[in-house]
Amino acid sequence: MAQTTSAAEPTRRDFLYIATGAVGAVGVAGVAWPFISSLAPDAQTVAAGAPVELDLTPIAEGQIVKLFWRGNLIFVRHRTAEEIQAARSAPLTALRDPQPDEARTKEGKAQWLVVYGNCTHLGCVPLGQQGEYKGWFCPCHGSIFDTSGRVRGGPAPINLPVPPYTFTSDTAIRIGAEA
Ligand code: FES
Repeated sequence: MAQTTSAAEPTRRDFLYIATGAVGAVGVAGVAWPFISSLAPDAQTVAAGAPVELDLTPIAEGQIVKLFWRGNLIFVRHRTAEEIQAARSAPLTALRDPQPDEARTKEGKAQWLVVYGNCTHLGCVPLGQQGEYKGWFCPCHGSIFDTSGRVRGGPAPINLPVPPYTFTSDTAIRIGAEA
């Protein structure tokens, strides 16, 4: 029997399921929220908060993927040149929680933004590439984030935080471990 899903509701394809500490290839997906297939979750590994490895090569420019680390939603965004420029040209004086974009990304890797994926107001999941700054828009109470994940409007008090992570190669990161 066919199932229908409201366009306003996230579908299973919106989420990236992490099985163990390692992530395989991104599935073929034509939308901005690619589904990444995985093996059966290893609950003990997840509960232990083991670092999560992510191969970045399948993530196209302009895409955002979601994954979970330590039970927290994480966004990994492959930013376009325009999105980087927008983030870096914003005056700090215009920011509620002033942080330069350079401090939120790794040196030489400005195209990659990794942030926690829950709104810093009350924890809803903001929608990517939406809102005045085309970063994220939180549909719950209207918080607006820019392409650096910094709050630019609405009730959210602080930026989307950056989790600890490190590049293990030019095209892979490990979330949960600093260099
Ligand atoms: S939870 Fe996002 S604006 Fe309230």
